[in-house]
Amino acid sequence: MFENLVMPAPDAILSLMASYRADPRTDKIDLGVGVYKDETGKTPVMRAVREAEKRLAAHQDTKTYLGLAGDVAFNAAMIDLVFGPNADKARLRAVQTPGGSGALRLLADLLNRAKPGATVWHSDPTWPNHIPILQSAQLKTQAYPYFDATTGSVRFEAMIEALMSANAGDIVLLHGCCHNPTGANLTIAQWTALADLLVEKNLFPFIDLAYQGFGDGLEEDAAGLRIVAGKVPELCVAASCSKNFGVYRDRVGAAIIMARDEAAATIAFTQMGAVARVLYSMPPDHGAAVVGIILTDADLSRIWREELDETRQRMLRLRTGLADELRKQSNSDRFDFIAEHRGMFSRLGLEKAQVERLREEHGIYIVGDSRFNVAGLPEGRLDVLAKAIVSVL
Ligand code: LMR
Repeated sequence: MFENLVMPAPDAILSLMASYRADPRTDKIDLGVGVYKDETGKTPVMRAVREAEKRLAAHQDTKTYLGLAGDVAFNAAMIDLVFGPNADKARLRAVQTPGGSGALRLLADLLNRAKPGATVWHSDPTWPNHIPILQSAQLKTQAYPYFDATTGSVRFEAMIEALMSANAGDIVLLHGCCHNPTGANLTIAQWTALADLLVEKNLFPFIDLAYQGFGDGLEEDAAGLRIVAGKVPELCVAASCSKNFGVYRDRVGAAIIMARDEAAATIAFTQMGAVARVLYSMPPDHGAAVVGIILTDADLSRIWREELDETRQRMLRLRTGLADELRKQSNSDRFDFIAEHRGMFSRLGLEKAQVERLREEHGIYIVGDSRFNVAGLPEGRLDVLAKAIVSVL
């Protein structure tokens, strides 16, 4: 049996993580996988998470199954977090999933049940795992232009023009905030124009919200999504808690749908359970229970929001710090966009060979498309990093 298998192509992000770990250099810098690191280089367990874990350990008196949708308190809290207090709850349903990736796959399967072989339009570029996840669910994929590498900004007109050629019923995958890998995001005016186009062309929005709270704030990062939700009749959202709660390995996410009416929402929700049943049956409990405790407790929520805000502010400082150093070292404004972008990532705009030189000569690990993790920047060594980047130009 297994002799029929061939080695799959390595995952660009995960293989980089393995190479970094194997590198014996002590001054190496990991700017690969999207994981937040504090000034000591650690990925901390958030204060609210630690406290919620204590409460969970003290009060959880059974490990029996919860059901296909997982933790109902978590699901309700996630709908509030993503859609805000004014959402029409009757049309919204959430299913707890193993991480944001689990939500993406569950929703992709759901959409394929609704419209077999449907086309999903995704940004060029997008997170490298989006396309295989969609294709594994038998959906077709097509790219729309998104990023202008020379200006570091969104090619909005080209994006709209491409989506004008989409067929009614096509799906449009959007990054809710903090675009991965580019860090270039839509403005509120652009979200509004896009929402109008989605309505006019009868396109179905599929929003990946993996970094809520990492860009401009929890509410601000959901603003585009909420504009779309206010205009279109139906949509779906894959939300991740990996980054904003720092619970990466616990695998916490939610697949959320907004349907035309309550009856359609109930059918879609039941179908989501059926999809979950054949994918993994029931989601892992621990992380979602912890997030559920935080989101339903006023004190823990406040502590979490404060820490998340500190995290966000620190990433902004790192962005400005690196942009300043690069401006100094390169004697140009070519990297100023780093300070303008939001979220965990930006692209340096380097060639593959330059990315390799950074790794080989300087022990600096960034993804092959020159995406770097802002949250991995070493605060005290931005000058060293900038010097190395300029040296490979
Ligand atoms: C990333 O893009 O680095 C993260 O979303 C982690 C992953 O699974 O790729």
